[in-house]
Amino acid sequence: MTDHLQYGTTAKVFHWLIVALLVAQYTIGWLMPDIHRGMKPGVAMAFHVSIGTTILILIVLRFAWRLTHHVAPESSLPPWQRLSSEAVHWLLYALVLATTITGWLFASFRGWSMEFFFLAPMPMLASENPEAGKLIDGLHQAMEWSLLAVIGIHVAAALAHLFIYRDRIMQRMLPG
Ligand code: HEM
Ligand code: HEM
Repeated sequence: MTDHLQYGTTAKVFHWLIVALLVAQYTIGWLMPDIHRGMKPGVAMAFHVSIGTTILILIVLRFAWRLTHHVAPESSLPPWQRLSSEAVHWLLYALVLATTITGWLFASFRGWSMEFFFLAPMPMLASENPEAGKLIDGLHQAMEWSLLAVIGIHVAAALAHLFIYRDRIMQRMLPG
């Protein structure tokens, strides 16, 4: 049994920091005013863009850390669970990246000049293009919902380990 082996502090901080930011990000995303033709981004959108960009930076750093450090201790799970959990984890990294990039592209195609927390201007990823904007808006929403669905599977699996399998998988990612 090696399930008592924990993720390291860095991996845990990355994990829970991104969880907290995603909760804020979905909340703002759903509550902020809908986009209309020709509108300029308001305060809620400024925070959505800034928090989203923070998530993008963190997921890139986290993924780089993941590839260069041994963060995931071997578990004694049956092979199908090990494979499926690995697949879900890679998918989570990919979908967070896709959601943030499509959001940034959307804001760029709109021609918005955006600031990172009112501190510094953000680079545009593309020049203004309403047609492309429409397309990428649909993609941002598709990525948002796919990410949410995969998070649902991930959380359900974590709860299953806690309450049904009663092993120590959940504890691997908890503090202490
Ligand atoms: C993982 C990070 C992100 C999540 C979970 C997220 C989630 C959301 C949600 C829930 C909405 C509301 C859309 C709807 O009504 O269904 C939204 C809209 C929007 N997001 Fe994001 N977002 C993220 C990152 C970003 C980033 C990094 C940017 C820009 C730099 C961005 C730009 C936008 C824009 C411009 C809209 C308005 C367009 C629309 O209503 O579809 N998002 N986002
Ligand atoms: C309350 C919500 C959540 C709980 C209870 C939870 C729980 C866990 C647990 C127990 C693990 C370790 C799995 C193992 O040892 O095999 C883990 C890993 C992971 N979680 Fe979560 N998680 C949550 C939300 C999220 C969210 C929203 C994301 C989205 C980015 C996420 C992304 C990941 C990733 C990528 C890993 C794998 C880390 C790695 O090996 O690189 N989690 N999570």
